[in-house]
Amino acid sequence: MSRVVLGVAGGIAAYKAVELLRRLAESGHDVTVVPTRAALEFVGAPTWSALSGKPVSSDVWTDVHEVPHVRIGQQADLVVVAPATADLLAKAAHGLADDLLTNVLLTARCPVVLAPAMHTEMWEHAATQANVATLRSRGVQVVEPAVGRLTGKDSGKGRLPEAGELFEICVRALAGRAQDLAGRRVVISAGGTREHLDPVRFLGNRSSGKQGYALARTAVARGAEVVLVSSVSLPDPAGVTVRRVTSALELRDAVLAEGKEADVVVMAAAVADYRPVERLATKRKKTETLTVELVQNPDVLAELVAARKPGQVLVGFAAETGDADGDVMAHGRAKLARKGCDLLVVNEVGETGHPTGFETDSNAATVLAADGSATDVPFGTKEALADAVWDLVGARLLPR
Ligand code: CTP
Repeated sequence: MSRVVLGVAGGIAAYKAVELLRRLAESGHDVTVVPTRAALEFVGAPTWSALSGKPVSSDVWTDVHEVPHVRIGQQADLVVVAPATADLLAKAAHGLADDLLTNVLLTARCPVVLAPAMHTEMWEHAATQANVATLRSRGVQVVEPAVGRLTGKDSGKGRLPEAGELFEICVRALAGRAQDLAGRRVVISAGGTREHLDPVRFLGNRSSGKQGYALARTAVARGAEVVLVSSVSLPDPAGVTVRRVTSALELRDAVLAEGKEADVVVMAAAVADYRPVERLATKRKKTETLTVELVQNPDVLAELVAARKPGQVLVGFAAETGDADGDVMAHGRAKLARKGCDLLVVNEVGETGHPTGFETDSNAATVLAADGSATDVPFGTKEALADAVWDLVGARLLPR
């Protein structure tokens, strides 16, 4: 059983920490809640106490004989603070210790996750950003706030991610997955593009985007700065900058622009090979027969390869079936050579006996590398495949 310290600072988002506490406790963790005095203005001690099964205190003067200001931090396997206010980040960055939570942060030798929540102006302020940079340079995992509705009428960057996402981040931090992508900039494309015929209809494909989103979530958990170029409307993963696109041409522009400075680009999107020559401005009326002329879309991965900066790692995906010209792997090898990327994740589409590929939450693949190696990733979650891809990417990144 892991010992988790849940620090709660004084922000309206403290109510979300209640749900995080419930999830941590229900999944068998021993949780000690350390709210700041301000946090208790938002959610009272009885709630924290009842759900954690322990007394809670904010100051260092309770149970002094047990030296809680030192013990709680020393004995923790994980310290997570949600929400972390601008004030809490500043105190943590400068090593202040004027209450129980800040003492815990100074004595913890375990992974520390801080999930900030505040108004956009406070988050973007140079002081806060400098504090975040300091904390990250010390190995603290500072989760990027989500974008959306804030307290009052405001909206923007600064929301606390939902409890489910914070829970996932905690589980991964406890599992000790290294922050091996810290400081790396990663661009991922996800989903099937839509090629519009008119304002109502489009040509599309079955890609759900789930594998791309799993890549984004796992990359963030491993410390990367992630831009997700997405053509589907799944909820934004915590800590990820999402750029929404519709067509292959829009996806291309976004990926090439974001990819310029990236250490890694993963093309998980199912980019349509063709688009209609003509897109009508008004809805097409029914006719007896309809012939649609298509023109080829640019190959984004090939353009990335052509524009690749030194050391950049490029990853493609290929859903393949075998045919008269060769089996799945033969097609995969040929595609890897043709595309010129570093890694190609090859999925077998169709009757593999497992629910893999499109629309499912699971996948199995073989990752082919330009150096000739092949890594089989057995049937599992899309997160597991994503982690296997990051392991292979990590091994190919130049040391900084
Ligand atoms: N891709 C791309 N731009 C395109 C088409 C595909 O960047 N216009 C990328 C995909 O995102 C994927 C990889 O290329 O990472 C392989 O996609 P796939 O559709 O299998 O490749 P194609 O070159 O279209 O090959 P095929 O002839 O098998 O359709």
